[in-house]
Amino acid sequence: MKFIRWKSDYSVKNKLIDSQHKSLNEIINELYEMDVKKDEKRARELLNEFVEKLDEHFDTENKLMTESEYPGYFSHKLEHERALRKYSSWVDSMLKKKKLEIDGEFFNSYKRWFENHHTFQDSKLGTFLSHK
Ligand SMILES: [Fe+2]
Ligand SMILES: [Fe+2]
Repeated sequence: MKFIRWKSDYSVKNKLIDSQHKSLNEIINELYEMDVKKDEKRARELLNEFVEKLDEHFDTENKLMTESEYPGYFSHKLEHERALRKYSSWVDSMLKKKKLEIDGEFFNSYKRWFENHHTFQDSKLGTFLSHK
C-alpha cells in the first residue's frame, strides 16, 4: 500500500493544485518504497526534486492567491514559507551526509503537514477559487 494514498477528500477542486499535490505525494511514495541503500543516486534525485516541486507548488498557490485577492493570503503564505524552510533544510542535512539515510520521521512529518495544511488552508483556497 502506498504511504500517502490519494483520496477524493484530498481534492481541492482545482486541477492545477490537485495535480501538484499528487506529484509531490508520488515523490514521497517512491522514496518511501525504494531501497535507498541500493540506489542512493535515485534517492538523492528524488529528494532534490521534492524540494524543487514544493517550492514551485507554493509559488503557484501564492500567485493564485494574489491574483484572486484571496483574503487568507498572509497566513497561508506564511505556512508555505515555514514548510519550505523546514523541508529544504531537512533535505540538505540528509544530502550532506556521505551515506544517505532517510529518517522515517521525514515521511510522517510531511504527511502530517500535508493533511493539516490541506484541511486548514488549501481546501479553503480551493473553495474560494471555485466560486470566482
Ligand atoms: Fe497551500
Ligand atoms: Fe498546496
